[in-house]
Amino acid sequence: MKPIPMLANLILASACHAALAAHPMPTPNPATIPAGPMGEAIRLGEAIVTQTPQAARAYSGNGLNCTSCHLDGGKRAFAAPWVGIWGVFPEYRPRNAQVNALQDRINDCFQRSINGKPLPVDSKEMQGVLAYMWWLSRDVPTGQNVEGRGFARLKKPQAVDAARGKTLYAAKCAACHLPNGEGMSGPDGKTIFPALWGPKSFNIGAGMARLNTAAAFIKANMPQGQENTLSDQEAYDIAAYFINQPRPDFAAKHLDWPKGGKPEDARY
Ligand code: HEC
Ligand code: HEC
Repeated sequence: MKPIPMLANLILASACHAALAAHPMPTPNPATIPAGPMGEAIRLGEAIVTQTPQAARAYSGNGLNCTSCHLDGGKRAFAAPWVGIWGVFPEYRPRNAQVNALQDRINDCFQRSINGKPLPVDSKEMQGVLAYMWWLSRDVPTGQNVEGRGFARLKKPQAVDAARGKTLYAAKCAACHLPNGEGMSGPDGKTIFPALWGPKSFNIGAGMARLNTAAAFIKANMPQGQENTLSDQEAYDIAAYFINQPRPDFAAKHLDWPKGGKPEDARY
């Protein structure tokens, strides 16, 4: 795992997760994956999150892997890590105004970020993803956030300029994600550079479709290999450009935030 430079404007966890005390993020050791059925479940879960279109074909609706955003297999701080996630669910979330089990949260990303279908809660796929997240979390005490849960917190600039973002996108992002945002797959069909917009990308209901979230993700994690080189202004300008390109709709979007609490960057 790469060390994250301590910039003044990176705080430990995103605001909505800030209520709990933070715990240093451990690095899970693959040697601790047990043999037998538990180990098999953990490895199935790892395959599903790292090769989603191939390993969860019936539930995937685009070209992204879970780990296209949850980087390093869910072990990277400020890329919404899953290390420690086991002990902080169930959690109340204003988006559906319910207490969500970890299964619900996983299926949210299946339906929005992956533009697909929910995993049946009793399926071996769901048991596998849960087993993987349990294993990642085993050295974090129940009820504690890890440092770096969620994303970095940026200072929102006074004026955000998508036209400037378009020019920056061409210079800093298009080499990998392509000028038309569709990304790139290898001859085996596996995603090399994930799609930022178009039919193979996340839908409008995804967290990444929101300005603050996308800016915070790209500031700490992109361009790949040059993380933390964009200014907050540049991260916001580029995010404003790419999130507003055409992408799949989310049919159930009218059900979101039924009791209020809608974030200021909500898309609908
Ligand atoms: C397009 C990017 C993207 C993809 C792909 C994606 N997610 Fe997410 N995920 C997010 C964002 C954004 C959040 C919100 C993080 C936050 O609340 O700060 C999130 C949050 C989560 C959380 C809760 C994290 C927390 O700290 O509360 C879980 C669990 C999760 N995703 C699982 C998955 C799984 C499993 C998949 C694959 C089926 C997946 N995600 C695919 C972007 C993505
Ligand atoms: C050197 C290649 C490279 C460059 C340059 C690059 N990215 Fe990425 N990007 C990647 C890879 C690879 C992933 C997926 C990571 C993984 O699978 O481990 C990714 C993932 C993403 C994701 C989450 C997945 C998705 O498709 O939504 C976003 C958003 C993103 N990049 C935005 C950007 C932006 C904006 C820029 C320019 C500031 C940029 N990237 C520059 C390689 C690159």
